[in-house]
Amino acid sequence: MSNYGRNAIAAMGERLDSLLKELERFGVENDARTTDHEEKLLNITAETGAFLTLLVQAVKARRVLEIGTSNGYSTLWLADAVRRLGGGVLTVEVVADKAEIARANFERAELLPWIQLHLGDAGEFLRGQDEASQDFLFLDSDREEYVTWWPDLRRILSPGGLIIVDNATSHAVELESFLRLVQDTPGYTTSLVPLGNGELLVLKENQ
Ligand SMILES: C[S@@+](CC[C@H](N)C(=O)[O-])C[C@H]1O[C@@H](n2cnc3c(N)ncnc32)[C@H](O)[C@@H]1O
Repeated sequence: MSNYGRNAIAAMGERLDSLLKELERFGVENDARTTDHEEKLLNITAETGAFLTLLVQAVKARRVLEIGTSNGYSTLWLADAVRRLGGGVLTVEVVADKAEIARANFERAELLPWIQLHLGDAGEFLRGQDEASQDFLFLDSDREEYVTWWPDLRRILSPGGLIIVDNATSHAVELESFLRLVQDTPGYTTSLVPLGNGELLVLKENQ
């Protein structure tokens, strides 16, 4: 990891730091071992985690929604940032076994009080959320669904809110139609950050 990421880690507690490192090793080993896609953990990189922490604090997001929890690795980075702002993370996962492992990791990190875990399909979940109820959305899930989810993502994001989409360079082709849709929607500014698997930033105008 770069020194930039290390600076972010230095700010967290030792317990969280060592759990994140353990999960990084476990995730890489697990994903190399299994060929079953559902069993893969597909965690973000540590650099991406540090970047998310910085972004949450920069925009002072108190209401953070993550789509795609897996075993909770990225949620821990988000929760550590939002905890310092007095907010919370809502995270959605459709696979029960993964959600169970994530909950155990949240407990180990002592970050459970700042995390609400929802087990279920994200599309259905998004439809039930209130307008402007989230300041920061992190999408790391079923990329083919993002186009369908866009109307609800727009609706629930507060003015001035930020959406981060993982895998913007590693799976650029899969995200092409979503990117086009976002860029064709008035009131949003995008930027592609070539860090980790590529992070697409989508800023909603503060109107
Ligand atoms: C790339 S992994 C998430 C990795 C996690 N963000 C991390 O970095 O630690 C994607 C996750 O999205 C979940 N997922 C896929 N489709 C979903 C859906 N429709 N609703 C909720 N979760 C979904 C998968 O089960 C998987 O665990």
